[in-house]
Amino acid sequence: MADLVARFRDVFGDSGPVRVVRAPGRVNLIGEHTDYSGGFVMPMALDRAVRIALVPHDEPVVAIRSVQFDERAEFRLPSYGKGDGSILCEAPGGPFRPFDNAQGRPEVLEGRQNTPVPFSDAPHWLRYPMKVAEVLAEEGIVLRGFRAVVDGDVPVGSGLSSSAAYEVASALALLVAARPDVPAGLAAALAEAHGLSAERLAELCQEAEHRVGVRCGIMDQFVSLHGRAGHALVLDCRDLSFEAVPLPAREAKVVVTDSGVKRRLSSGAYNERRRQCEEGAERLREFDPAIRELRDVSLALFEARADRLPEIIRRRCRHVVTENARVLESAEALKAGDLARFGELMNASHDSLRDDYEVSGPELDLLVEIARGVGGVMGSRLTGAGFGGCTVTLARPEAVEPLRAAVLEHYPRRAGLEPRIWVSEAAAGAAVEV
Ligand code: GLA
Repeated sequence: MADLVARFRDVFGDSGPVRVVRAPGRVNLIGEHTDYSGGFVMPMALDRAVRIALVPHDEPVVAIRSVQFDERAEFRLPSYGKGDGSILCEAPGGPFRPFDNAQGRPEVLEGRQNTPVPFSDAPHWLRYPMKVAEVLAEEGIVLRGFRAVVDGDVPVGSGLSSSAAYEVASALALLVAARPDVPAGLAAALAEAHGLSAERLAELCQEAEHRVGVRCGIMDQFVSLHGRAGHALVLDCRDLSFEAVPLPAREAKVVVTDSGVKRRLSSGAYNERRRQCEEGAERLREFDPAIRELRDVSLALFEARADRLPEIIRRRCRHVVTENARVLESAEALKAGDLARFGELMNASHDSLRDDYEVSGPELDLLVEIARGVGGVMGSRLTGAGFGGCTVTLARPEAVEPLRAAVLEHYPRRAGLEPRIWVSEAAAGAAVEV
């Protein structure tokens, strides 16, 4: 963190007080592709996060230097704020210009002088704070500009929700810039100072992600805000009620393995899966008008009516219906200390994602196969949306090194890719650090 503040001073030559916000990525233990059907999930916040160091200023401009992407860009704040009108504003998603000088004021680059650039030309990483600003402004929050440096250690495009972490960090940066009087502390207090609940803030960040182009569920933004150190969250994505269940760190480690296959969670396959779930729910509603989403479909009803669904829709629905049941059973197993059962359910989840939901791939399947062959590994599955990214493995502590050795021995040779493998601790949710 000290580094990020130093970096900020380096970029902007600013000696005033710098605020720092932090929002973690997540790893999902079980409950995949269920959140957008109102179902159950069990993620934990990661000890990896996106951090933003910022100083508010009086221009209605957010100017950001991204360390990870080695780029600088800025956008003007949108104009929906219902406040005292002290903010100069332009259209939402309005122009951005690269900036580059010590004061953090826009430097007009040749040929781009005051040229509005369409949203579709904005650097991908800038779109998240732009859309977060837009939804916050629509919510009636009076925003204030700032200059900032952003950095993070959540691998991008690896299924660990770097985008949700960035959205939540952006929201906190915008909220803290608008209310610099709010002291450091958990995100909920800052949200409350703006009349927002932390749940609402998660929903607004989810809406921002939709506007960037992915019709994601609520899981990632929610756990980034509500994560609890040492705990997994069992979250009901319909009413957002949740229970924090302790993870027995002395008996089991959560091992994340990055396949090295980059995933771009764009509108394509993910949104298609969501549409298929919606179609399944709609078709099954014929048999029970109380069905709103796949969350409402019991295993019994599904089995009785499965033959009425087109083949692909049937398999997509079978994944979601059985996965919801697995999450509830895993939560019971975890509370009862039955880690072996928890691991079996993780394995079943992966197999269902591979065969019925078809979001795995040869590399993820290979990582899972290697992990399952190691003694003391209780379960292993892909985590996040799939199509590349990471696996999550539950292993006895003494199995972690043999697991690492097995992955490093077999994976590069068979997949032609370098894996990264590490033990993750469940971390606390987003906060204003300074
Ligand atoms: C992505 C989405 C989440 C969720 C997962 C799959 O991470 O952002 O909402 O749907 O995929 O479980």
